[in-house]
Amino acid sequence: MIYLDHNATTPCHPSVVDAMLPYFSGHFANPSSKHVLGQDAHGALGAARREVARMLGTDPRGVIFTSSATESIHMAILGTLDDERHTVISTVVEHPATLLLLERLEASGQPVIRLPVDRHGELDLDLLDMVLGLHAKSAILSLLWANNETGVLFPMAAIAEQCRRHDVLLHVDATQAVGKVPIDIGELPIDLLSFSAHKLQGPKGVGALYARRGLTLTPLLNGHQEANRRGGTENLPGIVGLAQAARLVPRSLACMHEVAALRHRLEQACMSLHPGAMVNGAQAQRVANTCNITFPGIEAEFLLMLLEQHDVIASQGAACVAGDTEPSHVLRAMGLSREQALSSVRFSLSPATTAQDIEQAVAALAEVIVQCEVLS
Ligand SMILES: Cc1ncc(COP(=O)(O)O)c(C=O)c1O
Repeated sequence: MIYLDHNATTPCHPSVVDAMLPYFSGHFANPSSKHVLGQDAHGALGAARREVARMLGTDPRGVIFTSSATESIHMAILGTLDDERHTVISTVVEHPATLLLLERLEASGQPVIRLPVDRHGELDLDLLDMVLGLHAKSAILSLLWANNETGVLFPMAAIAEQCRRHDVLLHVDATQAVGKVPIDIGELPIDLLSFSAHKLQGPKGVGALYARRGLTLTPLLNGHQEANRRGGTENLPGIVGLAQAARLVPRSLACMHEVAALRHRLEQACMSLHPGAMVNGAQAQRVANTCNITFPGIEAEFLLMLLEQHDVIASQGAACVAGDTEPSHVLRAMGLSREQALSSVRFSLSPATTAQDIEQAVAALAEVIVQCEVLS
């Protein structure tokens, strides 16, 4: 199988599995227990927190372990809203983990503003600055760093500077950025940052939220764990797995040039195999592993089904909406028609993707595109 759907999830790295295994049985204790076994588990929890903090360039005390990026996003937004900071500013291209929360907040009367993107998937920073100015001191801005469907990167340094100037809290959904772009919170005035282990060769069901020290954060789940910020016995095997995945991040970052070269080869091949094919967000800064390609006149669902018969796995967008025939809200927001959006495929590579994988995928695409053209 040639797996080109790493933005949906990644396989666990063997070293991650090895690191986790002892924590299911040998080191099984509850990190909150006072006895010697509990202290052992507590030590492992602390070491994992230091590792994750190192990856982010921050202090371990700012790292809160959660069950997923979805939980972290909910905690960041719901945990910081209050009578004074009541407005949520976001964008129309967020992951459903944010979008659905915003819908719920709006339905309950909370002010929510969603900023548009242009046809390249980029924000208008002048508009953002104006909106932040209008809501100075009374808002939280929550937005993606890297878009899960197109890979388009928002310019976080400039955005963070604008937020600081207008005293607006900044929460970054970095789920698709961690391990793909260098992150150094010490250098960026970000207040909150969410991500998930399973996008970076770690296990599913574990994520983290970074929260700047001194920030008041109302817990979603009450309990004494995570310094009273997130109740519930910690998922220690998962957290140890996340820490090992964090250790692998510098290696992944070092591979991003090669990943970008493989993506380039794939994009060029798609464009020559199907004249009229276009790469969505190609004009913008993107993470190296993601490409989203529209094949005009071809139904993406059909193309993906045929590709799968050739052992090539890709997807139509966010895994959470796979199977749903609604066109991607991200591509629609970039101005694509419903038909164009339904003709678009996301390929997402990883540092483990090889040149041979891409050549095999291109060979499969060459056959499949002809079949689609004949049948459409
Ligand atoms: C950008 C982005 N945010 C949030 C999530 C949700 O992550 P999790 O599955 O850990 O809840 C995803 C998962 O696809 C994502 O890509």
